[in-house]
Amino acid sequence: MVIREYSVKDFRDIMEIDGEAFSPRNPVYDVYIYVTYGSDLLVADIGGKVVGYIAVMDIDRETSKIVSLAVKKEFRRKGIGTKLLSTAIERCKERGKKKIILEVRVSNYPAQNLYKKMGFKIVDVIPNYYQDGEDAYLMVLDL
Ligand code: ACO
Repeated sequence: MVIREYSVKDFRDIMEIDGEAFSPRNPVYDVYIYVTYGSDLLVADIGGKVVGYIAVMDIDRETSKIVSLAVKKEFRRKGIGTKLLSTAIERCKERGKKKIILEVRVSNYPAQNLYKKMGFKIVDVIPNYYQDGEDAYLMVLDL
């Protein structure tokens, strides 16, 4: 497995991974936005097949945001999410960022566990953050 930068031929794979990872799925417009304007978009590639990705956007000079992270179902619990996230964190550090933020569903324990393992802390609850009314935790990692 290699972690590499996104290339335009990966778009379909990312849409497919999103479709099975998020319910409701990320709108194609959102995916288009972070593919086009993201400061970092990394994919996990196994033999030419994309099995996961992470999208990062810069919020300001000091802050980046993880806007999306997903791994294909049959490849989960193998350390791929950890590898994508740790690579993204290193690249934020290299760009001189001081902080990474993200929002995650309060019910999404797998992702929260991963983020906590990597040092993120819950700093706030954002009520009704998602379209279906679920709250989000705001999590922060100080770099
Ligand atoms: N239950 C509990 N803890 C879990 C689970 C789970 N099902 N999956 C991962 N974790 C935690 C564990 O602490 C795990 O460490 P361990 O295996 O040593 O116990 C740790 O995360 C690292 O696991 P990885 O194998 O590196 O993570 P994985 O490759 O499975 O990817 C991910 C995790 C990305 C959250 C995956 O489950 C996924 O794609 N979920 C659906 C999409 C999603 O929820 N994305 C995050 C949304 S928030 C956002 O995008 C900002």
